[in-house]
Amino acid sequence: MSADGSDDDTSRSAAATAELAALREGLSRPLPELDARYFYDDRGSALFEKITELDEYYPTRTEVSILESHAHEIMRDAGARSLVELGSGAGRKIRLLLDAWPSRDDGGRCVMLDVNESFLASSVRALSDRYPRCSFGGVVGDFTKDLARVTAPRPTLTVFFAGTVGNLHPDARERFFSTLAAAMAPGDSFLLGVDLVKDRAKIERAYNDRHGVTADFNKNALRVVNERFGADFDESAFEHRAFYDELEQRIEMRLRAVRECSVSIAAIDWRRSFAVGDEIRTEISCKFTRESISRSLATASLDVRGWHTDPEGLFALAHCWRRA
Ligand code: AVJ
Repeated sequence: MSADGSDDDTSRSAAATAELAALREGLSRPLPELDARYFYDDRGSALFEKITELDEYYPTRTEVSILESHAHEIMRDAGARSLVELGSGAGRKIRLLLDAWPSRDDGGRCVMLDVNESFLASSVRALSDRYPRCSFGGVVGDFTKDLARVTAPRPTLTVFFAGTVGNLHPDARERFFSTLAAAMAPGDSFLLGVDLVKDRAKIERAYNDRHGVTADFNKNALRVVNERFGADFDESAFEHRAFYDELEQRIEMRLRAVRECSVSIAAIDWRRSFAVGDEIRTEISCKFTRESISRSLATASLDVRGWHTDPEGLFALAHCWRRA
């Protein structure tokens, strides 16, 4: 980087241009699509935290219970000198691994990567207070683009919780696995949380909670796009919809127009009118079996060697190493 930071500015503006192009491309499809990252401004991140506490939303508490029973085994298998958490959010689950980590107070380093700067700063602060002998770092970034900016002593255990990998379409997911695998040294491992295929009603309840928190979270994407890109979506013209697609083994969240409206985003020269019933896809959340996630990871030469699940088989942590 040059002294005045101009290379940084250049790459930032290239990233901004690419983001606008992707936004336009997604919204211009026959079924318009917004990337799931647009849920997560401060309000959206707080709404997601509320979702994780809902009765209907089983993934978070199930993943925590798996960590409670298997953290020691996972940390022993990993033999890590550093921990890297992708998409860390409020950063509570990592504590369960830190509590079970022999190197934590002996030169251990833990780096968190998240798109939300304020969540990141407060979790790094809270963790430093709680584990004063471990060193912590934060990287503001996107797990699909910024893996290379994270450096830590090896072997590294990289963790990606919450089933967030399910928000990626299969091609993007496999690109992500490849980028991650390319950054892994021998001995490094990857712990991946995945929501499992199960009874449709149980999955659909988790995305249609009776308090409407998920509906508010979904509509928040429109506010974010209004604020960030000067769009003029009227939140009240859209309703929340979530359904499980059994063939694709994924939840889709959509926003459906409940009255005719037209929306424009001058910055990307996009406008479109919505008839009643027209939809925007705001998220996919893929569900996996041990076989399907192993197959997907194998495209990047990642082998699942540890499989940790709850007694009901609702959720799993896959522990992977790169094939030599
Ligand atoms: C952030 C990926 C864990 O897909 O279940 C929660 C986001 N969307 N309710 C998921 C979400 C609707 C969530 N993850």
